[in-house]
Amino acid sequence: MTEKIIILDFGSQVTQLIGRRLRELNVYCEIYPFNKIPALDASVKGVILSGSPFSVRDDRAPQVDLENIKGKLPLLGICYGAQYLAYHFGGDVKPSLSREYGRAKLHIVSDSRLFEGVRDGSQIWMSHGDTIARIPEGAEVIASTEDITNAAYHIIGEDTYAVQFHPEVFHTEEGPVILKNFAIDICGCKGDWTPASFIENTVRELREKLGNDKVILGLSGGVDSTVAGVLLNKAIGSNLYCIFVDNGLLRLNEFNDVLSSYKDMGLNVIGVDASEKFLSALKGVTDPEAKRKAIGKTFIDVFDEQARKITGAKWLAQGTIYPDVIESASVNGPSATIKSHHNVGGLPEKMNLKIVEPLRSLFKDEVRRVGRELGIKKGLIDRHPFPGPSLGIRILGEVTTQKLEILRKADDIFISGLRNTPCSPGIKSASDPLSDATNLYDSIWQAGTILLPVKSVGVMGDERTYEYTVALRAVISTDGMTADWVHLPYEFLAKTSNDIINKVKGVNRVVYDISSKPPATIEWE
Ligand code: XMP
Repeated sequence: MTEKIIILDFGSQVTQLIGRRLRELNVYCEIYPFNKIPALDASVKGVILSGSPFSVRDDRAPQVDLENIKGKLPLLGICYGAQYLAYHFGGDVKPSLSREYGRAKLHIVSDSRLFEGVRDGSQIWMSHGDTIARIPEGAEVIASTEDITNAAYHIIGEDTYAVQFHPEVFHTEEGPVILKNFAIDICGCKGDWTPASFIENTVRELREKLGNDKVILGLSGGVDSTVAGVLLNKAIGSNLYCIFVDNGLLRLNEFNDVLSSYKDMGLNVIGVDASEKFLSALKGVTDPEAKRKAIGKTFIDVFDEQARKITGAKWLAQGTIYPDVIESASVNGPSATIKSHHNVGGLPEKMNLKIVEPLRSLFKDEVRRVGRELGIKKGLIDRHPFPGPSLGIRILGEVTTQKLEILRKADDIFISGLRNTPCSPGIKSASDPLSDATNLYDSIWQAGTILLPVKSVGVMGDERTYEYTVALRAVISTDGMTADWVHLPYEFLAKTSNDIINKVKGVNRVVYDISSKPPATIEWE
C-alpha cells in the first residue's frame, strides 16, 4: 500500500503546488475537495488543509469535518487552513488592519519539529486579508513576523501545526524544509515514492488488473500516450495493441519517425495512414470549430475501424494524467467540476471496453521522469505539447495539401533551429524543472508555426512576389492555462526568418507572435 498525504482543497489557486512540492520530496499525495474526504485507511499518514479565496468569517466559508482527523493524524493548516483551525478550536480570526500580502521575514520564537533546521529570518510569502488574533486553546506560537505575532502555531499534545504563510510557493525560501519536516519527520513518510518505485508498483498492479486480457491504446506521438504504452508493454507485452493514426496533419516526417521509434521500443503498434480520409473531411471547411469536429469525428471512425479488428479486446488504455482528473474544490456551489479527457469519445461504450489509465496519478513532469526511467529516448520525452487536431488548426481557414506542404517546411526550420541553438546558462528546462535547459527548444513550453490566410506583396531579386505569411509562436507556461510569449534572441529570429523566406517557396513574410494568454490563446484557432 503506497503511503500518502491527503491535501484538502478549499479552492486556493496554489493548492496543486502543495502536491507538487510533496512529490518533489518523493512523498505521494492526493488532492481532494474539502467536502469529499476519502477513506482514511492506514496508508494515510497525514492531512494538509489548503488556502482559500474565502475568509473563515464568511457565511459561505467552506466547512470541513475534522472529527476523524484533528488530534488523530498529523495535520498542517496552511493560510485559510491555519485560520480555520484557530477560528473553530477556541482561537479568533479578525480582519487584518493592513492586507498581509507579499514578502515577510519569519522569526522562530519556540523550538518545534515543523521548523527544525529552518533558518531564522528567512523570507516567507503571505497572502491573506484576515489574521489570527488569538491562537486555539492549548496551542503555542512557534513563529512570528515583524507585523504578526501568530504567524505559525502548534497545538500541544497533538501533531497539529498551522502556518499563516504559504510554504508551497517559491518565494518562501525554507518552504521545502518546512514541508519535508511535516511529511517525513512529523507524518513519518519514508519519502521513497520515486519514478522507479512508481514503475514497479504500477507494473505489478497492471498485471493483476489486466491478467491475460487484450488492451488497445491510441498512440499520438505525445509524451503521455508514449509513456503509458511503454509501461503497459512492460506489464503485459504483446497483449497490448497500439494504434497510431496518420491524420495527414502531422509535422514533417513525424509519422514515420515516431512509428519507427515505437517499433524500436518493442511496442506492438499498428500504423494507419488515414491522411486521405482526414483531408477529404476537411475539404471546404473553414470554421475553426467545424474543423476540430471534422478531425475528431474522422479520428473516432478510423480508430473504431482499427480497434474492431482486435478481436476479444477488453480494455481501452488512455494517457490521462493527474491535472485532468483532480476534482477542483468548487467553492461557489456543491457541484464540483471535473475536467475529463475523451480522446476516443464514445468508443469505450460502443465497444464495451473498460478503461485503464496508468498515469492518472502523475503530473506532467512526473510522467516525463517515469519515461526517462523507462529508458524512452529524449526526443520523445521532451516533446512540446501538440494539439490533437495537429496542423489542421495551425493553417487558418481551409486546409489544403499545398498549404500543409508550406507549413511543414517552415515549421521544420523553426523547430530544428530551436533544437540546434544553445540557450543561456541557468535557464530551467520546461520539460524538467529540476534541470537546466540545454537548447532553446528545451527552454520553451510549446512552439509552433502558423500559416496565415493572407498574401502580401514582396520582392525577391527583381521580381514582385505575392505570397503567404507565417507566424512563429513560442510560449512558456506550466499547464497551458496561462502563457507568456518567449523573448527569443533577435539573432535567432533573424536567422529563422531568413531561412524560411529563402527556403520555403510560397512564403515571403515571417512575423513573431508577441501575445500572452490571456487575452490571446496559444493556438490561433
Ligand atoms: P489554447 O489555444 O487553448 O491551447 O491556449 C492550450 C493548450 O491546448 C492545446 N490545444 C489542444 N489540444 N485538442 C488538443 O488535444 C485541441 O483541440 C486543442 N486546442 C488547443 C494547445 O496546443 C495548448 O497546448
